[in-house]
Amino acid sequence: MFHDIPLEILERMHELERRDEADRVDGTSRLERLRQIPEETGRFIALWAASSPEGAMIEIGTSAGYSALWLALACRATARTLTTFEVLPKKVALARETFSQAGVDDLVTLVEGDFLACAGELGPVGFCFLDAEKEVYESCYDLVVPRLVPGGLLVADNAINHRETLQPMIDAALADERVDALVVPIGKGELVCRRKN
Ligand SMILES: C[S@@+](CC[C@H](N)C(=O)[O-])C[C@H]1O[C@@H](n2cnc3c(N)ncnc32)[C@H](O)[C@@H]1O
Repeated sequence: MFHDIPLEILERMHELERRDEADRVDGTSRLERLRQIPEETGRFIALWAASSPEGAMIEIGTSAGYSALWLALACRATARTLTTFEVLPKKVALARETFSQAGVDDLVTLVEGDFLACAGELGPVGFCFLDAEKEVYESCYDLVVPRLVPGGLLVADNAINHRETLQPMIDAALADERVDALVVPIGKGELVCRRKN
């Protein structure tokens, strides 16, 4: 998965890493910033996604498609596809550019819209990466967990750097008997939940 990353994926990843880094210091507004996961989180979610059971592989919060490129590596390795949701038209346009330039259009379906409005159409989910606005995490969790197949995984970003905002959701997940859950101190902190068999 990590030893044979196609050049066009690597090049787009590096371009987005540079852009994200610049965003953070050049006064770009919060809404326009890419706000991507760091590389180690990319590797982390790709490993989990590739190890997840059958069922849809989804992402909530595409931005320009950086994390989706990591998940696309898991798709390549396991002959699956990813569906990723993004609500902002400007980000959707950037993500489309990403998937086309990186040559992963056949692996990634980009859904333009609010996940909360689109989730009704979801079937069983094998893997979900949640990286949207923190205010919607709890609603996303409530929509995704009932759809997780046995052994299915939900990984939520920002469990440490946004701990205060996310604490109620994290507490609910840790107490939720449908899943086994843990906060992992990697990147910005990842809440990993596995649906019980
Ligand atoms: C932190 S960024 C995602 C970064 C991306 N996962 C990456 O690492 O490359 C959060 C994104 O979620 C999008 N978003 C927020 N709420 C959403 C919702 N309810 N449905 C779909 N997208 C949403 C935002 O527009 C923003 O682009």
